Amino acid sequence: MTQAFSSLRINADRMLDSFNQLALIGGTADSGVDRPSFSEAHLAARAWLRRHIEANGFEFRTDGAGNHSAILSCDDSSAPTLILGSHLDSVPNGGRFDGALGVMAALEVLKTVRENGIKLKVQLEAMDFTDEEGTLVGLLGSAALAGHLSKENLEKPRGGRERLLEGMARAGLSDVSMLSAARKRETLAGYLELHIEQGKRLERSGTDIGIVTAIVGIWSYKLSFIGKADHAGSTTMEDRRDASLGASAFALAAREMVMRDFPNSVVNVGKMDFVPGAFNIVPAQVDAALEFRSPDDEEFKRLDKALLELARSEAARFGLELQTEFLGKHLPSLMDADVRGAFVDSCDVLGLSHMPLPSGAGHDGQSLADLCPVGMIFVPSVDGASHSPREFTKWEDCVNGANVLLQAALRLGNG
Ligand code: GLV
Ligand code: MN
Ligand code: MN
Repeated sequence: MTQAFSSLRINADRMLDSFNQLALIGGTADSGVDRPSFSEAHLAARAWLRRHIEANGFEFRTDGAGNHSAILSCDDSSAPTLILGSHLDSVPNGGRFDGALGVMAALEVLKTVRENGIKLKVQLEAMDFTDEEGTLVGLLGSAALAGHLSKENLEKPRGGRERLLEGMARAGLSDVSMLSAARKRETLAGYLELHIEQGKRLERSGTDIGIVTAIVGIWSYKLSFIGKADHAGSTTMEDRRDASLGASAFALAAREMVMRDFPNSVVNVGKMDFVPGAFNIVPAQVDAALEFRSPDDEEFKRLDKALLELARSEAARFGLELQTEFLGKHLPSLMDADVRGAFVDSCDVLGLSHMPLPSGAGHDGQSLADLCPVGMIFVPSVDGASHSPREFTKWEDCVNGANVLLQAALRLGNG
């Protein structure tokens, strides 16, 4: 690593300008963004990204999964590609940093490398992955790129097949195109991502950069608690088969069980749909969206069994039937040791403090981890807020993260 490389920095004002332009697209009154995958706002953000890439003189590419990217080629056209990236989609009423920061920082790295006339031994690609957030499938673009996407993932998306079909049609994509986006292992040099922490550990410890050790796995199910619709006034309490009771009791008991028996895991019942859903009808059915996360494969298997048994016993307690529909899993993954080392060296050269951290949020890197070296860094989230318009990271911290990304890309791309 030459001295000249170590002194390179990204252009903070230029990155802020792009970041602010992007945040207006799908921007909400409370400074958040609402850009669920393939919504009008998401597609508008992608159209803006394409114009931005082309206006800055980079080659623009999109693939069958709708992933959008800017390319900075190197002299050897057969050299593998180092991908830097994140995602422009958001959760409904989300924040402006989750994903967008990583994409803007990746582009800024390409701009900095090019304007300094640096010749790397890899192609650099700044990528915006499709549907990272899981509004539809989750880690969709990265799974497609990694060749992990199956027909079943598309036929049974956790966001519903109809919604996926509508979204894909809006974006000019299809099942067939999605399954065509896989890249060959030998074409990839690695994947690096800058992201906000979405927790309080960096802020609390006063640390500049989190170097991710592992990303949790995520499993999801639809649980249907099925009872019987009845008159809510004239049916005695004893005679009811009220689906809401099984679903609610399950949510409470799942929390207690995970806290007691699975201290490294988390569980969430994020949505309940009541059928028929009226003040004066005993609920005949409640569909609950269950998601649970763990960094450990063995723990996952035990947790999966324990949660389904719990759902069955809570359903039985209230005289209900239980139907379960498996809606996919993303595997936990370890970050690459050499990439972590490159992040450590980069922080040291920049005089930034750093600490190792596991990620409780899902990220596209977990799709790619068995294909190429993957690494991630985090920058502090004020008050740990995320998936909310309250999400905020000081611009100075965003710039620190982008400089670490730049330095790590230079180290890995020059080796
Ligand atoms: C994505 O941000 C997730 O972890 O759900
Ligand atoms: Mn994200
Ligand atoms: Mn997110």
